Order: sequence, then structure tokens, then C-alpha cells
Amino acid sequence: MAKLWAGRTEAETAQLADDFNSSIAFDSRMAKQDITGSMAHAAMLGAQGIITGTEAAQLIDGLQTILDDLASGALQIDPKAEDIHMFVEQVLTARLGDVGKKLHTARSRNDQVALDFRMYLRDEIDALTALTRDLAAVICDKAEEYKDAIMPGYTHLQRAQPVTFGHQLMAYAMMLLRDLGRLQDCRRRLNLSPIGCCALAGTTYDTDRAMEAERLGFDGICLNSIDGVSDRDFALELCAALAIEMMHLSRLSEELILWSSWEFQFIELPDAYTTGSSIMPQKKNPDMAELVRGKTGRVYGDLMGLLTVLKGLPLAYNKDMQEDKEGVFDACDTAKMCLSVMAGMLPGMRARRDKMLKAASEGFINATDLADYLVSKGLPFRSAYKVSGALVGKCIKEGKTLETLSLTEYQQAEPLIGADVYAHIDLKACVEKRVSEGGTSVQSVEKQIKAAREALSI
Ligand code: ARG
Repeated sequence: MAKLWAGRTEAETAQLADDFNSSIAFDSRMAKQDITGSMAHAAMLGAQGIITGTEAAQLIDGLQTILDDLASGALQIDPKAEDIHMFVEQVLTARLGDVGKKLHTARSRNDQVALDFRMYLRDEIDALTALTRDLAAVICDKAEEYKDAIMPGYTHLQRAQPVTFGHQLMAYAMMLLRDLGRLQDCRRRLNLSPIGCCALAGTTYDTDRAMEAERLGFDGICLNSIDGVSDRDFALELCAALAIEMMHLSRLSEELILWSSWEFQFIELPDAYTTGSSIMPQKKNPDMAELVRGKTGRVYGDLMGLLTVLKGLPLAYNKDMQEDKEGVFDACDTAKMCLSVMAGMLPGMRARRDKMLKAASEGFINATDLADYLVSKGLPFRSAYKVSGALVGKCIKEGKTLETLSLTEYQQAEPLIGADVYAHIDLKACVEKRVSEGGTSVQSVEKQIKAAREALSI
């Protein structure tokens, strides 16, 4: 087919070159944005008298019909078209004749593609925001359910201090709240319209960029036309935000995998989100969590890919930039799927309170509380730490726990210790004493849940 851009060249392009050049296979997902953007452009051209009002109305009507026909299936995207912008314009011109050829006045595919991409990603950000919210809400509910379930908290994957499962889960809710913030920041910087930057230098026509921007829901316009067609920061920022969010999901996945292992047995994942083994009948594999952890790698790859495409590109548009889309689309698709799977799986997660408590009882995780008790009796913390450490050493040697040491044994180590020591090192008491802001006590976790839910309801 004759190219809309065949200007100075005479010979036909090679089939191989056409295939290589084509982006319709992936940019057709921006059809709706492309058509909506063109409708606003036609309206602006009409309002400014660059084309007549009748012509503008015809263009808008024609574009609406294309949108409807694509939705109903009456019109199919031609996989041989060069890209979505060319496809829409070609269909429009085939349907309307010469009027169709006026649509591309005072714009270029360079500002057009930047516009479509921004609009598409804006919709994606909104979808990702809703899914992130859903998952954070699910996590808050689970945290509420298990706000008093005592488990070992870890550092270096060594049992450290008692926490509640609700407290641990709320740590993930906090991460998701930051993810939401990043998505919103990204949306705010993205939401400026590049249309009207044209090829790179602006235009001689008396356009109204603000009008187009407003019609398309933008907060303003890109102020420098060279930057407007060259900038892909919004796509990078989204990829970066998603890479971070996936890292959060991956860390959660890693814990779910560990906790559901036979060694931990802290949780049981719902049957609907686990798989069996084709050979080992006893297995219940946490495939979903593993896949989320695995897919995190591809989202990192999408970010690195785009950074690398853009590095070293001279201003303004270069065809390299056609490579900006697939990775970002993939990052969005992947993150959306992972968020949905997590939000589907977690409500059915069951915590084994008994196993968690048992693990918490075995690792001397109340040694800090013993030291704090000694401080309350008048020892400076460093000395208290030494006594507590020596007692743990004794327990390990003799196969005892801090709870089973006799008062005599305690007093041999430090005469200040009284019978009230047992109440102080009781795990439930250890948790309940941590009432500091953000701490692990039920009351502190309740506050965290309340704050998170409030943040989510805005
Ligand atoms: N398909 C192209 C892309 O995705 C559209 C922009 C083409 N612009 C150009 N000057 N050839 O980047």
C-alpha cells in the first residue's frame, strides 16, 4: 500500500523493512487513546478555524464510528498497517475521502504517539492504583484477623523478638501505601499534554494546545515542544514504581513460601492458589507466590530495557523510541496480574497460631525483655545485656528456656532478679508492652490498621 509518508522517495520499501518498521502488533492497544486524541484534535482545528466546523464534525463523527466499529468487531485492526496512528488515519480517509486527510494538520506522529502513550499509561496507572488499593485492603483485613497471633520476628532470618502476625502483615500494607504514592506522583507528572508540539518545533498554525489538553483530561501542557516529543520520563517513572512495587510483592511472596514450608508451617495457603506435584503426592506447592517472585525479574528488565533505549538518544524523536512501549506494557500487565493473584490468594490464607507461638517460644526471643527487666531493677543496659546473654548461654548448654530457669538459677546470675521476672518474659506480655508508636502491641497494630484504612479511603 502507498505510504502516507511517501514524500521524497520513489521506490517502494522492501517488505522486510516494512515488517521491521511496523509497531501495529503492540501499539494497537492504544487504539482508543489514539482515536480520542484525534477527536480532540479535530475539535480544536475546527474551533480555531484551521478547518471548518463542518469538517471537524465530520472527522469527529468518522472517528467515533471507527471507535464503535472496533469495539463491535465490525472493523478489525489490519496487522499489515505500519502503526495504530496510520491505521486509524487510513480507515478514516477511506471512509470520508479528502476530509480525512485534514486530520493530520498541525500535528505529527511524534506528538501524537507521545499523547497516546501518556493517555494509555494514565489509564493503566488508574487500574494499577485500584488493584494496589484492593490488595492493601485485603492485607489490613488479614492483619486485623491476626493482630494478636504471636510469631517470632526475625533479623538475619534468626529469631529476634516476638511480634504479631498482624504487625508483620501491616509492614506490607505500609509498602503498598508508598507504592500508591509513587503511582500518584507519576500520574501527576505524566498528566501534561504533548499534543501540539508537532514534529519538534511547534507549528505555524494558530493552535490551542490548552483546549486540547483540557478536553483530554490533562492538567496542562508540556512547555517545551522539543522536550514534549522526546520525553519518556513518565514511562520510566511508571516502570520504576512498578519495579519497586514488584519488589515488595516478591518479598511478601518469599515469606509466604518460607512460612508455608513444612519447616515453618506458619501458614497454609488456600488450595485454590496452590498446586500439587505430578510425582510427589504429599506436595502443596506455593506456585503463585513463586511466580510473583519470578515475574519481578521481568519488570526489572522492562525498566532497564527502557533506560537503555533512551540513554544516548539525541533530541528529539528517534525511531528507537518505538521500542519504548512493549516493556512498559509488559510491566503493567505483569504487575496487574500479580496484584490480582495476591489479592485473590491472601483472603484464604490461614495462619497456624499454635506453630507460630511454638516457634516464638523456642528461640530466646524474650532475651531483650529480660535485659529490659534488669534495667527496670536498676542495672545499666549494657550490664543487663551481659547478664541476659549469659543466661541464654546457660539455657542452651543445659537444654532449658528462660521460662524454665528456676528463681535460684536467676538469682545466682543476678541477685536483683525477683519472682516477677516470669511475668516480664512471658511472650504475650513482651508483645503487649511494645506500645510505642508503630510497635507490635495489639493496640499499636490497631492504630496502624486504622491509619492505613483511612489512607486507602481517600
Ligand atoms: N510508531 C511510531 C512510534 O511508536 C510512531 C511515531 C513515528 N514517528 C516518526 N517520525 N516516524 O514511535
